[in-house]
Amino acid sequence: MNKYKKTAEFLKEKINIQPKFGIILGSGLSNMKNIIEIEKTISYENIPGFKKPTTEGHAGNLIFGYIKNIPVVAMDGRNHFYEGYSMNDITFPIRVMKYLGVNCLITSNAVGGINDNYSVGDIVVIRDHINLMGSNPLIGKNNKELGPRFLIMNDVYDNTMIELVKNYGQKNKIKLHEGVYAALTGPNFETLAEYKFLKTIGADIVGMSTIPEVLVAKHMDLLVCSLSVVTNLGTEDTMSDTSHDSVQDVANTASKKMIELVKHIVINRKG
Ligand code: HPA
Repeated sequence: MNKYKKTAEFLKEKINIQPKFGIILGSGLSNMKNIIEIEKTISYENIPGFKKPTTEGHAGNLIFGYIKNIPVVAMDGRNHFYEGYSMNDITFPIRVMKYLGVNCLITSNAVGGINDNYSVGDIVVIRDHINLMGSNPLIGKNNKELGPRFLIMNDVYDNTMIELVKNYGQKNKIKLHEGVYAALTGPNFETLAEYKFLKTIGADIVGMSTIPEVLVAKHMDLLVCSLSVVTNLGTEDTMSDTSHDSVQDVANTASKKMIELVKHIVINRKG
């Protein structure tokens, strides 16, 4: 039995629930867990293979529960490559989710806005991505049980969920964009030259996470939807205002809208 399956079996003994949706609560978005009717919370420290997040604002709990009677599992806090964890470490929980029975992964994160039409507080549903992390969790001997060696990257982000998000946004006047996400390793925010470079290559937003988890999810054939909150802008006159605290504050404020969107997806995407 592989290590992901082993951890899934370990968790199944502790819960009476077979989650259909996996949700990652990103920076400043921890209170999105308030939509979940919680059945069980397990600290990452007590789960074989899970690593404790070292970043402030990332609790490190796996939460099992229901959103409107639909079983979900949520990661309250994620691990990042910049913490020194390996690509395998940070994507381990996603593979475990698949073995728990999850079909759909919803990720959230905080991002810098690059597109001139974006403002702080806007929400972006990711249409496509550019991996500039210089690494990939699929590097290494491929385990065919998990997925194919050479993964085709079409329709990585589920169109049905993107449409659900856009329609809900339109009806409820939530300022929302559909964009391309670029990930760098961090932990520093980008230089002005880097923000300009990212705009040139077609990115609308930039962050330090998400792509590793999404790659592993696609490898295992999970449907993915990724939502981002624009917490700062990559422009000369605004970039000096950016800090981890300001990122968390803006994300926190936007989390009410994120909660509505996640709820809408879970209720309406038959996974
Ligand atoms: N760059 C990278 N990651 C981020 C940013 C940014 O400007 N804002 C929030 N996360």
